[in-house]
Amino acid sequence: MTIATIGKPLTRVDGRAKVTGTALYAADFNQPDQLYAVIVGASVGLGRITDIMAAEVERMPGVKAVITHQNAPQLPYLPHKAVIDPAVGERLHVLQDEMVRFYGQPVAVVVADTLDDAERAAAALRIQYHSSRPLVDPTDQMAERIAPSAGHADRSRGDADHALTEAAYKIDAVYEIARENHNPMEPHATTAAWEDERLILWSKTQYIANERAEIAAVFGLPVESVQVNCPFIGGAFGTSLRTWPHVTLAALAARHVRRPVKLVLTRKQMFFTTGHRPRTQQRVAVGANSEGKLVGILHEGVGETSRYEQFAEALTAVTDYMYSCPNVRTQYRLAPLDTGTPNHMRGPGEASGIFALESAIDELSYAMGMDPIKLRLRNEPTIDEAENKPFSSRSLTQCYDVAAEHFGWSRRNPEPRSMRDGRLLIGMGAASATYPAFQAPANALVRLMPDGSVEVEAAASDMGPGTYTSMTQVAAEFLGLPTDRIRFRLGRSDYPETPSHGGSWTMASVGSAIREACFEAQAQAAARATQPGSKLHGLLAADMEWVDGRLHRRGDPSQGLSYQDIVNGSGSPIEARGSARRAQDLAEKYSMHSFGAVLAEVAIDPDVGTIRMRRVVGAYGIGRVVNPLLARSQCTGGMIGGIGMALMERTVLDARDGRPVNAHMADYLMPVNLDVPQLEAHFVEEADPHVNPLGVKGLGEIALVGTAPAIANAVFHATGKRIRKLPIYIEDVLGN
Ligand code: MOS
Repeated sequence: MTIATIGKPLTRVDGRAKVTGTALYAADFNQPDQLYAVIVGASVGLGRITDIMAAEVERMPGVKAVITHQNAPQLPYLPHKAVIDPAVGERLHVLQDEMVRFYGQPVAVVVADTLDDAERAAAALRIQYHSSRPLVDPTDQMAERIAPSAGHADRSRGDADHALTEAAYKIDAVYEIARENHNPMEPHATTAAWEDERLILWSKTQYIANERAEIAAVFGLPVESVQVNCPFIGGAFGTSLRTWPHVTLAALAARHVRRPVKLVLTRKQMFFTTGHRPRTQQRVAVGANSEGKLVGILHEGVGETSRYEQFAEALTAVTDYMYSCPNVRTQYRLAPLDTGTPNHMRGPGEASGIFALESAIDELSYAMGMDPIKLRLRNEPTIDEAENKPFSSRSLTQCYDVAAEHFGWSRRNPEPRSMRDGRLLIGMGAASATYPAFQAPANALVRLMPDGSVEVEAAASDMGPGTYTSMTQVAAEFLGLPTDRIRFRLGRSDYPETPSHGGSWTMASVGSAIREACFEAQAQAAARATQPGSKLHGLLAADMEWVDGRLHRRGDPSQGLSYQDIVNGSGSPIEARGSARRAQDLAEKYSMHSFGAVLAEVAIDPDVGTIRMRRVVGAYGIGRVVNPLLARSQCTGGMIGGIGMALMERTVLDARDGRPVNAHMADYLMPVNLDVPQLEAHFVEEADPHVNPLGVKGLGEIALVGTAPAIANAVFHATGKRIRKLPIYIEDVLGN
């Protein structure tokens, strides 16, 4: 194959559509006769509804319906759980009873002719409650601690507690991370239209197959009766992995008024019922002998969840395999609160857990006077010691070499508070990053068209990484065609089913399925090409080869046929399906993870405590890079998320009622252009023959993991002050 497109910096195939506004997002789809729905959220944090003055509002201009638990139909809510749903508990059943479980829970939906009418009526709707004080603080004495379900069991090797008592150097500290909310530019939005018993949704989702299955289960419909469309996503970071109540409400409202209904969440509502990164509290203890060899690691983490579901994430998982250490004990507990269920947010678990672990390791390096990178590399394992099996590949040492070289780590003065630029304190910090290299079963379809073009379809999403572009490259690569001959389509539930667009597994999963579909298409094309009358008639598969989209007698390109020749010959397109899943034996034999090294530089004003990012340099071992342009963009985006986690993002709940008090962009701080410093992402060469035939490990999540601890460690290096909580604010740096 001479046309190699994997590895090329192809610009986004959908770039023009996005910048010219022809790319349509969920809220852009309008239906004839559509009405507008606005959700009313509970204004108490716990209790029950005692009265709803709906009649007053029903008479307001343009109002078509006020739907509450009093007039909503009982919905079947058939059992349904996908991989992204909590294993324990039951999803919120919306408008099915008078109970209020958390602040902002949907308690009514107003449908009107215009958005203005619906908003005005929703604001006027008076509801009375019997309320009591919710528990919303996981550190409250009253908060329970429960063990999560299987998959997050306590783990232990050796005797960490004992080893730590004998360590020459030891750190034992508690680290806290605030609740964060995903704040993609695009809000959640659903337009719902019923055609008899068939439901069509234009909806923002990272998991098309599940949105269809979930809504079918909620309404008791066969899955074939639900169609989900989501061609574009304006960022999601995990918030659109689950199908939240607003999707049900849009469908319910449309059925109630017998017209299509559009429902778009407000920015404020994005803080209520669509998940959040759970607030966490973690104790980490690390101990080393006098040579800097780790002798014990202990990691106990607590994350918040709701009362009605147990959301669990990989909070302590990385601690099991990050370092070589004979004695490691990890424990993870959940604190159920009167809050909506948290969910996955970029690097879910890993990003939080590694902040605690990599802060503690950094503290240990100062305690023993060893360079923090050197301490890490001294404890680099040769195998996954938790699973007792080899890594499919692990390039952390090379990552540190590359990152340190580009960063100029050798110019760093190891002494805290020793580096200055004028009156500013300069700090340089390091942290490791890691994320599992997942792959999930996926399907795809390749259609060779008579005009020589190729259609490729999969029910995937593209929340920003560039799925349209990278999958086009995969198909072009394996068909041996230029990328402009390929049209990749995603975002429809009637395309072949794929897993959720999350977990950094889209390329490994969907890309592998497309590769298989390409091979199947070639096999079908070869079968047609060797039929009687063809110039390749009679040749066996072994006698032929594909070169640049042409099938010819092996070693003789003069006797060849293109896809177009072959398809045209018989008129009808060739339609080939492919599926892929990870080989079980490889999954059992190898520990599969990406690794990375993140170095950060901050400048801190010693008088007023302002923290400014100067640089972040990351180097990652993520297997094969399908598109370096997209990969770099993924990484810089993740670094920016990490800057938000380190220095800005925090959802504050009012202790009296659980109301998010900063549920808007003025007070929920996120990095804007001026907060973003020079960002560099590098990729080390990594040929991993085990993860999947594409050799890709994925990089959506690892791009965020590691950034926050690198920044926190840089803050310590700049100031000599250890901040064990995120986000780090001015007052933390200034306070004593
Ligand atoms: Mo990612 S948190 O799996 O969208």
